[in-house]
Amino acid sequence: MRLFLYFTREHAELASAEAKSLAKKIEFEGKGFVIAEFDDSYQRLVMTKFAGELLWEGENFDELDLTFDSFAVRCTKLGEVSSGKIEREVGARISGKANLKNPEVVIRVFSDGRKHYVTRQVYEYSEKVLSCRKVNARPFYHPTSLQPKWARLLLNLSGVKQGKVLDPFCGAGGVLLEAGVMGLSAVGVDKDENMVEGARENLWFFRLDKKCSVEKADFFEWKGKNFDAIVTDLPYGRSSQLFGKRLDILYEQAFDKMKKHSNNAVIMGPQDLTKFLKKHDWKVEQCFDFYVHKTLRRWIHVCSR
Ligand SMILES: C[S@@+](CC[C@H](N)C(=O)[O-])C[C@H]1O[C@@H](n2cnc3c(N)ncnc32)[C@H](O)[C@@H]1O
Repeated sequence: MRLFLYFTREHAELASAEAKSLAKKIEFEGKGFVIAEFDDSYQRLVMTKFAGELLWEGENFDELDLTFDSFAVRCTKLGEVSSGKIEREVGARISGKANLKNPEVVIRVFSDGRKHYVTRQVYEYSEKVLSCRKVNARPFYHPTSLQPKWARLLLNLSGVKQGKVLDPFCGAGGVLLEAGVMGLSAVGVDKDENMVEGARENLWFFRLDKKCSVEKADFFEWKGKNFDAIVTDLPYGRSSQLFGKRLDILYEQAFDKMKKHSNNAVIMGPQDLTKFLKKHDWKVEQCFDFYVHKTLRRWIHVCSR
């Protein structure tokens, strides 16, 4: 399906990278949007606000001619335009019954005033969909755990659509939960007994314990197999345990050990770890950072070998 993806305003580069990781082909990249060929995986995106099947693009609505039983037209501005005017112009070119409350299709128009993209909306991102798995809605709560949105973003950046992922520092299971919900199998490893039991409880609660499992082990001694990708949020040395290891040593040993389990990794941490990753033969394809709160920035490294 040829889709127009309109990004949330949070982080343009991350939004674009997420879309590119899952798209079959990127056709055109604009400011805050892309046009891309996609399979069903667009439904996983967390940094795309709207996705619409591209029905028409052009500069003159006179050439537009569509038919639907019932429809509503909504305009999203890509520049200085009057959305009301665009909605009326497009509405006048569609045969069928306008129904703002319960339309059969939502026609979403993206326009900068000169170029217009007319789409049939197929996806609208809402955090509400993920809220049932938010950190404080899970039976086992831990403050270090990743919110579903960020776990999903990391998984999406790995590009794995079907297959098996490993989280070697799984904590309360934030990554495992989202992997399971998206139909991936996942294995988590954690050295902390309390975390392991908590992650298992969370997986069981959301009926994901058949798809995903947790092993209590020191990752540095763990004898697991190969995975399509490693997706992890590292220990930061703040609220999570380091078991007596210095943080920089833990990171270096972790990047070395990860090589035994996959050739792809998406790694989040509290600083730019590119130099450590390179030292251990990981190619850092992409690196993003973003503000979390006054004392925390996070870096996401998308790596391959
Ligand atoms: C930042 S937390 C991960 C949070 C997790 N992403 C989540 O959403 O719940 C890091 C975890 O790494 C674990 N850890 C630290 N050293 C470890 C080691 N050597 N082997 C396995 N796990 C370890 C800690 O027990 C902690 O639960």
